[in-house]
Amino acid sequence: MKLKDSETFKNLAIAYTSECAARTRYEFCEYGFRYNGYEAIATLIDKIAYQEFNHARVLYAKLQDAEMPQIDNVDVCAGLPFKEKWDLATNLKLLSQDELDEAKVYEKFEKVAREEGFDEIADIFKMIHDVEVRHANIFKELYSQFHSNKLYKKAKQVYWVCPSCGYVSYSKEAWDKCPLCEAKQGYCEVQLPDDMLL
Ligand SMILES: [Fe+2]
Ligand SMILES: [Fe+2]
Repeated sequence: MKLKDSETFKNLAIAYTSECAARTRYEFCEYGFRYNGYEAIATLIDKIAYQEFNHARVLYAKLQDAEMPQIDNVDVCAGLPFKEKWDLATNLKLLSQDELDEAKVYEKFEKVAREEGFDEIADIFKMIHDVEVRHANIFKELYSQFHSNKLYKKAKQVYWVCPSCGYVSYSKEAWDKCPLCEAKQGYCEVQLPDDMLL
């Protein structure tokens, strides 16, 4: 089967569209956090948004493997979510759900690609699936910390790092204002479990 005649071709276009929309949705949320002074969370969301851009880039490149002089149009019916609004905590929760929904779609796309004999593309769908599950866990963790007001308050002492000046303190709670450079608390690095580092 030729790629251009396959379901996988359409699925690549749907996945590409979803990744573009996800990236933009994440940037909306990133904007909200940065606007409200949560620079560190905003930076983490920005990293995830950039990873979605790279998913889109890889998928776009695969679409171009179809033997067509030029792809003028692909009709996509992608079923994209439009749930996020303006509440910061709710958005983190929704982003986590979006990632899991996206992961389920990738599971289906991988299966179809294998059935159609496009193993290399199936592998890409699988790898992106695994990243989306990871993203879902990171957003869930951020939601839980942010929602319960534990972002900068821990039960045990931890290292808090100011990315603006490099100041470090070992304490249960982060500073309100960095004692060295006076950066606000929202700049202080967020604590994520080791398997969630970005
Ligand atoms: Fe993605
Ligand atoms: Fe993702």
